[in-house]
Amino acid sequence: MKAHFVFTFLLFSIVLLSCKKEGSGGSGKADLYEASELALLMRSMAAEQDSFKSNLLRGADSLVFPSSYIDLLEAKASEGMHIGEEYKAFANNFIAQMDSLKLSESSDLVSNHNLVVSNCVACHEMHCGGPIDRIEKLYIRN
Ligand code: HEC
Repeated sequence: MKAHFVFTFLLFSIVLLSCKKEGSGGSGKADLYEASELALLMRSMAAEQDSFKSNLLRGADSLVFPSSYIDLLEAKASEGMHIGEEYKAFANNFIAQMDSLKLSESSDLVSNHNLVVSNCVACHEMHCGGPIDRIEKLYIRN
């Protein structure tokens, strides 16, 4: 009984991480284990943005800016993902916003970090709804 619960919980967590909403079908089990190049890149982007947020909140002396986003336009996405002109437009906006974050005055770091996160969310609303709740946790609210 207990093991069954743990398994269901694990499965549920994985579904939350990927783009698919519950019950949307998909091509079966392989999806849970084989992350695409783009999905892996996204995971590291999320992790880097999250540690940027923590360092910013701690008032760290030297901030390490998130870096791995450059491949956003090239990385291979999961099958069935619509990577077209619209995706490219979102990706270019996101990259431009990342560049302004790097050039920010220190007084603008928080608001520019939040603008990066809103660019994540904007693209996700069109392309990959699953992780939005998790991405929104990256906002710095006061
Ligand atoms: C230009 C569009 C776009 C932007 C900008 C974007 N994403 Fe994504 N994201 C996607 C797409 C498309 C996928 C699905 C990738 C796949 O399955 O191949 C994805 C997948 C993910 C995933 C799930 C990865 C997995 O394990 O399956 C997470 C988490 C994620 N993104 C977080 C973020 C965060 C955090 C940001 C901002 C720092 C961000 N994304 C910016 C389009 C975008």
